[in-house]
Amino acid sequence: MNVAEGRPPVLVAAPLADPLLARLSRSCDVTVVSPAGDPDGFPGALAGAEGIILTSRVRLDAEALRAAGRLRVVSTMSVGLDHIDLPAAAERGIAITTTPVLSDAVADLVLALMIMLARRLPESARLAASGRWTEAPLGHDLAGKTLLIVGFGRIGQEVARRAVACRMLVRFLDRRSDLPTVDGVEREFDLLTALARADFVSLHVDLNASTRHLIGAKELAAMKPTAYLVNAARGGVVDESALRRALSEGRLAGAGIDVLEHEPPEPGEPLLADPRVIVLPHIGSATSETRTAMAELAVDNLLACLQGKACAHVVSNSSASGPPAG
Ligand code: DGY
Repeated sequence: MNVAEGRPPVLVAAPLADPLLARLSRSCDVTVVSPAGDPDGFPGALAGAEGIILTSRVRLDAEALRAAGRLRVVSTMSVGLDHIDLPAAAERGIAITTTPVLSDAVADLVLALMIMLARRLPESARLAASGRWTEAPLGHDLAGKTLLIVGFGRIGQEVARRAVACRMLVRFLDRRSDLPTVDGVEREFDLLTALARADFVSLHVDLNASTRHLIGAKELAAMKPTAYLVNAARGGVVDESALRRALSEGRLAGAGIDVLEHEPPEPGEPLLADPRVIVLPHIGSATSETRTAMAELAVDNLLACLQGKACAHVVSNSSASGPPAG
């Protein structure tokens, strides 16, 4: 932004460390907001803002975007974009930027979930804590098992590299044709056939109209009863009632879930109490290194867009829209 043109008002609805807030404040009028803590004040604050930095917990639906008459840039500290009404943003010429620097953190978590499920670690830890040292159950090896990765963007590819290193047989499914190859990883073309072959299935697609409930009753029925499902993408990609049914009827060995359709879940959500399910509170990117990198990039993205500079992480605006980084 040209300083002579003034200091654009920006909202910060994300956890930014003081040095980053200070950096933003050098050229922008910064207001830190808490949409969850002050839902009534948020629309008013948004109305005057030219830019906003937010996390995936802050929803920008069509109504919010309509009220945000001056908004030019939404810098989201996420790769997922399902919290933003993209067509409404595009209609208003609002640029959306993302922070695709979390692939290692999410891929590590996915590997951790697969190992926790296969080796029954939560159960063994509970037995050790209750003095039943010798009663730990036998688990399974990852080596030699087939992993199906659904969605082969950045995160899916990192999961594949880790799984190949564990000597798993790795296959992926993705509609895009221009994807890099990962040594030792083969492509699948049909979801139901691929699900039927897999011992582990890990989901790495964006949540949108075409992926909502991608894994439903039919897909779960195609899976082996000994297979595990891992979801660190978005809760809405899985039909949770079909998943609960498949688990309770013994048609799936277990699930590792970092995301739920409704977050935080209602108390009493059955998946939280199911011993075959590990539920984590959406912590895929929650390492201090990754969150720091995401926050820095979110600030870089916002400033670049407000200043009319090139920004490699714009995924959507009136003139440019591409597939969300995954
Ligand atoms: C992402 O970046 O989309 C993570 O899931 C955090 O929301």
